Amino acid sequence: MNSRIAVVPGSFDPPTLGHLDVIRRAARLYDELHVLVVHNPGKAAMLPIAQRLSLLEQSIAEAGVEGHIIVGSWSMGLLVDYARDVDAGVLVKGIRSQVDVAYESPMAIVNRHLADIETVFLLPDPAHAMVSSSLVRQVASLGGDVTPFVPPVVATFLDTGARGL
Ligand code: PNS
Repeated sequence: MNSRIAVVPGSFDPPTLGHLDVIRRAARLYDELHVLVVHNPGKAAMLPIAQRLSLLEQSIAEAGVEGHIIVGSWSMGLLVDYARDVDAGVLVKGIRSQVDVAYESPMAIVNRHLADIETVFLLPDPAHAMVSSSLVRQVASLGGDVTPFVPPVVATFLDTGARGL
């Protein structure tokens, strides 16, 4: 496995400015970055995977994130199977709080046992430390303004396209 190739996995339901911050910074650290929309068996989704993928692609393009970035989705099995397929040696996750540490640590340990893959944690820019997809989903579903928390293309989509989902 190649430690210069990394995967940033997540539900991205929807993509937030916090996600974009992690993606931008990870793209500077690695030669090839796979940003991967993954089905989380433990969460009820708001958006279909294809929609999240499209919003993620548009958000990355809109923000002009530089680097060798491949955006994809994975619902065929374990995350580490995808990592193996693309020869990635690293998973990158954002860690906002102790709650995230508690949530992410077991996954990092299990993934290392499954595939000898390392997980690298990036601390968020403080501006995004409180932003989460679940809060965005809640604010959007109750008619609030999510503009401060998500890329413009996502804000527009949630304001218009997602009605009726
Ligand atoms: O954004 P999320 O929901 O916190 O991302 C979690 C995700 C999707 C990365 C995680 O649920 C995952 O890796 N799912 C794929 C299934 C898998 O490989 N499970 C074992 C991981 S320990």
